[in-house]
Amino acid sequence: MIVVWRVVDSCNLACPFCAFDRRLEFPRHAADVVDVIGFARALAAYQAQTGEGVLLSWLGGEPLVWKPLESLTNAVRALGLKISATTNGTSLGSARLREHICAAYEELTISIDGFSGFHDPMRDWKNGFEKLQLWIPLLAARARAVGSPLKLRVNVVLMRQNVEHFAALCAEVATWGVREITFNQLGGRDRPEFYPSHRLRSADVDRIETELPIIRRTIARHGVTLVGGTAYLSRIRASALDQRNPVYDCGPGERFLFIDERGRVTPCSFTTPDYAVDVRSLRSGDDIAALPTRFRAMRCARRSTQCDDCLSTQVCDKFRSPPDAATTQVVHREPAVA
Ligand SMILES: C[S@@+](CC[C@H](N)C(=O)[O-])C[C@H]1O[C@@H](n2cnc3c(N)ncnc32)[C@H](O)[C@@H]1O
Repeated sequence: MIVVWRVVDSCNLACPFCAFDRRLEFPRHAADVVDVIGFARALAAYQAQTGEGVLLSWLGGEPLVWKPLESLTNAVRALGLKISATTNGTSLGSARLREHICAAYEELTISIDGFSGFHDPMRDWKNGFEKLQLWIPLLAARARAVGSPLKLRVNVVLMRQNVEHFAALCAEVATWGVREITFNQLGGRDRPEFYPSHRLRSADVDRIETELPIIRRTIARHGVTLVGGTAYLSRIRASALDQRNPVYDCGPGERFLFIDERGRVTPCSFTTPDYAVDVRSLRSGDDIAALPTRFRAMRCARRSTQCDDCLSTQVCDKFRSPPDAATTQVVHREPAVA
């Protein structure tokens, strides 16, 4: 079970494609640490009851600059859960933080969208790429030195302006000690003003498709994998063509949960307005085991319109690498009633 918790919606960077851009004026929130510990206890009970490992993954905003995170991470780990996070990497210059990550984290995903000419202005972070080029290898080397299981991953948001450098970026990043590279297409929900001039076009997807096998061969020499299976690429192509991806049944709550900074637990980050369960109401392993039934009942009562065009990367098999069969058993149409 993977649980992604967006613990803060504030960020120290200003990315024009992101909903959490620090320049945007809206009231920012952070998770309640008591709720995090309470729910982590329930997850630990669920893990013990079912034997299914739980990975709790911090998301933001920028999670690594949120003050309570380090002690929360230690507390949650002490309960037996594994920890991961997605970060912009701005705090990785701290040797102390790198030490903590090596000691406590199973995985860390770092966002990089291009070389300095693209990444730095896009994130409004001076010398950002250069810093990551220094800090990520330091983190990888420290993890190796202390025998940490830490898996480093780089995630790239693909848009029409950076597709041409994707192969070179992967080749560069593969020499930094990371184990995996993932990619997303630029999504348009968060910043509709940015999307039309930056979204992937069909020709961009053709290019990615052609280059994927070459990139995979190149980075395999460094033991690095570029994930994203056939179904994932088809999903990206479909959105470039404005085709919808209706999903009737994704197995909500069975393998993946999303929680936002206000403690709303949902099957994915898109269905928060429709299928939210209050994290404070989930106290036991049984409460968590009952979530799929509860989410299905909510869907039966009123299906989320988000599912008419599913954008969830978990459902679309972002983390699967070819040769692949879909990992997620997704039903796309409502079964016909006889
Ligand atoms: C919202 S950020 C939060 C974590 C952290 N601050 C970071 O930059 O990685 C999580 C991931 O979503 C990506 N992202 C943000 N806005 C996006 C968009 N409109 N489309 C696709 N990916 C996006 C980011 O690049 C990052 O990889």
